[in-house]
Amino acid sequence: MKVLVTGGLGYIGSHTVVELIASGHEPIIVDNLANSKQSVLNRLQKIVGKDIVFEKLDLTDKDSVEKLFTSYPFDAVIHFAGHKAVGESVAKPLEYYRNNIDSTLVLLEAMSKHNVKNIIFSSSATVYGNPSELPLEETSQTGIGITNPYGWTKYMLEQILTDLKASDDSYNVTLLRYFNPIGAHSSGLIGEDPSGLPNNLLPYVQQVAIGKLEKLKVFGNNYDTIDGTGVRDYIHVVDLAKGHVSALENIGNQNSVGIYNLGTGNGVSVLEVIKAFENASGKSVPYEVVDRRPGDIAACYADASKAKAELGWQAEKTLQDACKDAWRWQQNV
Ligand code: NAD
Ligand code: UD1
Repeated sequence: MKVLVTGGLGYIGSHTVVELIASGHEPIIVDNLANSKQSVLNRLQKIVGKDIVFEKLDLTDKDSVEKLFTSYPFDAVIHFAGHKAVGESVAKPLEYYRNNIDSTLVLLEAMSKHNVKNIIFSSSATVYGNPSELPLEETSQTGIGITNPYGWTKYMLEQILTDLKASDDSYNVTLLRYFNPIGAHSSGLIGEDPSGLPNNLLPYVQQVAIGKLEKLKVFGNNYDTIDGTGVRDYIHVVDLAKGHVSALENIGNQNSVGIYNLGTGNGVSVLEVIKAFENASGKSVPYEVVDRRPGDIAACYADASKAKAELGWQAEKTLQDACKDAWRWQQNV
């Protein structure tokens, strides 16, 4: 299929482009480079061994998006583009709502005009807010306990896409709720490259291990979890990327909006992550325990059985694989 990949030079988008090409699809990447670098394109081309089409474009720019849809007969869209830093979204809510909501509306209007009816959207486990039950199923409650504008944009965009499907059943809408993506491509050529101080656990651990940062702050060790530290469902980004290919190849097989958790189904604590990374890298990761981070929850992990049953997809790589690949990438950045 000819697939528009918005945000395709970003962390998850770039890995998905590799897997799309490996499965015989033809991705066309669009990105405004707000949180990625043009050099990722060269690295992608090196991995797949051929040229990839890239258009530098801001999705909030209606005219450019119209031109894009006039230029390419897309079969489907995978929509990764958006701002994603939770803390920044609290500081700059209007920027987050403007970028994430506007870009999606512009995209959907162009899809409607050009009769492109297949969309896969990057949602997040953040829509479950503070979980009332674990593991989280797709039917678990959403919206209660979302603490930041970033999370609300995901919640609102899920609603917008659901309303679109209700208005016109010829749309095929798939919402993928990612748990915690980590790791990098095994080539060491692409991975997550946060600008400034990392917010998420793995990028921070990586930078401590390589000596760029002095020590990790563990946000709380008095949660009701296995060792008191926060528990999450860490999924290798390549597994996540493959989940998009499965979603694409099954698009239209659902009677209504297709909602899938993409996670491993396993909860892992912060201390377990530190240990796994130390094993994979052979480096020590010094840490100190500090206060809880405001807005954090104790534990969050998926029931990933629906994706297995309906998409034939499940995570295959281990935490150790992800740490090894992340370490290889970190040494190349
Ligand atoms: P990323 O920042 O690496 O990639 C997003 C890309 O979108 C960037 O390259 C950025 O330049 C681009 N972009 C942003 N606004 C744009 C606009 N208006 N026009 C064109 N391009 C634009 O993020 P990622 O980690 O790859 O995440 C991809 C998607 O998955 C995002 O929607 C994110 O919210 C969602 N998600 C990510 C995580 C995670 O932990 N990484 C978890 C759940 C959901
Ligand atoms: C974050 C986002 C969430 C997003 C998710 C997906 C916040 C508040 N939430 O959640 O919206 O959907 O990523 O990637 O940012 N930790 C430390 N020290 C650190 C960093 C993290 O101890 O320096 C702990 C956290 O307390 C948590 C775990 O590590 O228990 C994972 O944190 P993080 O990587 O930020 O992910 P989430 O909190 O799941």
